[in-house]
Amino acid sequence: MTQHYSILRLGHQGDGIADGPIYAPRTLPGEVVSGTLVGQVLSDIRVETPSDQRVKAPCRHYKACGGCQLQHAADDFVADWKVEVVRNALAAQGLEAPMRPIYTSPERSRRRATIAVRRTKKGTMAGFHGRASDTITEISDCHLLDPALIAAVPVAEALAPLGGSRKGALAVTLTLSEGGLDVAVKGGKPLDGPLELALAQATEAHGLARLSWDGEVIASRHAPVQRFGVAAVVPPPGAFLQATKDGEQALLQAVLQATKGAKRVVDLFAGCGTFSLPLAEDAEVHAVEGEALMTTALDQGWRRAQGLKRVTTEARDLYRRPLMPDELKNFDAVVLDPPRAGAEAQVAELAQAQPAVIAYISCNPVTFARDAKNLINAGYTLEWVQVVDQFRWSSHTELAARFALNPAS
Ligand SMILES: C[S@@+](CC[C@H](N)C(=O)[O-])C[C@H]1O[C@@H](n2cnc3c(N)ncnc32)[C@H](O)[C@@H]1O
Repeated sequence: MTQHYSILRLGHQGDGIADGPIYAPRTLPGEVVSGTLVGQVLSDIRVETPSDQRVKAPCRHYKACGGCQLQHAADDFVADWKVEVVRNALAAQGLEAPMRPIYTSPERSRRRATIAVRRTKKGTMAGFHGRASDTITEISDCHLLDPALIAAVPVAEALAPLGGSRKGALAVTLTLSEGGLDVAVKGGKPLDGPLELALAQATEAHGLARLSWDGEVIASRHAPVQRFGVAAVVPPPGAFLQATKDGEQALLQAVLQATKGAKRVVDLFAGCGTFSLPLAEDAEVHAVEGEALMTTALDQGWRRAQGLKRVTTEARDLYRRPLMPDELKNFDAVVLDPPRAGAEAQVAELAQAQPAVIAYISCNPVTFARDAKNLINAGYTLEWVQVVDQFRWSSHTELAARFALNPAS
């Protein structure tokens, strides 16, 4: 007899979860499903009773492609679920906070994508990795990417015969910039004279702004500029950049609101200046970031810009050497935007230093909630949380939040 499973909730990866726990990818709470159980995961799933939140996936590649996990759910359901993920992470630490309305990036707005490109017997294959597999799914009409990125897929394909090996796939990161397409390749053959020449010719032939190979710039025809406020920055190849321009703006507005009125701001995990440079329109900023190439790019962007207040930079590993209370004492606001692991060591020092305001940007609600608890124990109020969804249809959740020091602390 066929076994039926009732889906109770979604897990962190966006999979439906039934009692057991049994994981059923691409199902929704309230649905009754059947399928083949392999360990704890259900495959060949049949949805016996669909949820009224189930929709037809907009993309025809959704079944095979690993790029999206939640296209089978209504937009409002996904938005509510992402806010709930943050609420639950806070609740697990015994916390709650006012939640601002979520901001979701529109379809076709991603300005950067890493595409897998493989040489095949017949030619080349380019696309995203398939679901839980090493296959490559073509993305000719991807609903996530800016159309200009999709139009650039043939450029990525053209690089495989030049420098791809038969064994592995090239990871080709395509980024839209003011100077044109910025292309950074990893996983290719080691550079030698003939390959370098061929890649330089390809840069010319395809009109690329810049091409880099395993971190080395091969050719730069136009500066691949990213604009942060009034500053034009040329990031190092493959450097971190917020996934969508509008998502970046939503995060920036939250940071500007959270730090409003501050005259001296320290921006920790500053990247190439996404927040530091716009903040410098009204405040002096000290930008601290682990990658020296990024602080150099930020500094050069600031030097070329007109009308900004002073920005200083420091390349520093904030996990090993967080800023100490005596270094933090001159700032009236802190911006904190760490990687997924959060900022435990830095938060311990902030708890001692007690700056008036902390704007915390996070791409991991679990580490955010852990750090939030430490700040609240040190005398802060978590005034609001704003979820920003730059990764539409994925299980990924990002947020901005404001912490204010309690008057009595
Ligand atoms: C989520 S990104 C944010 C960057 C920037 N705030 C932005 O919005 O573009 C995190 C940044 O932390 C930097 N980073 C990673 N590990 C670090 C460390 N141990 N110390 C300092 N910075 C680090 C990364 O290079 C990256 O630029």
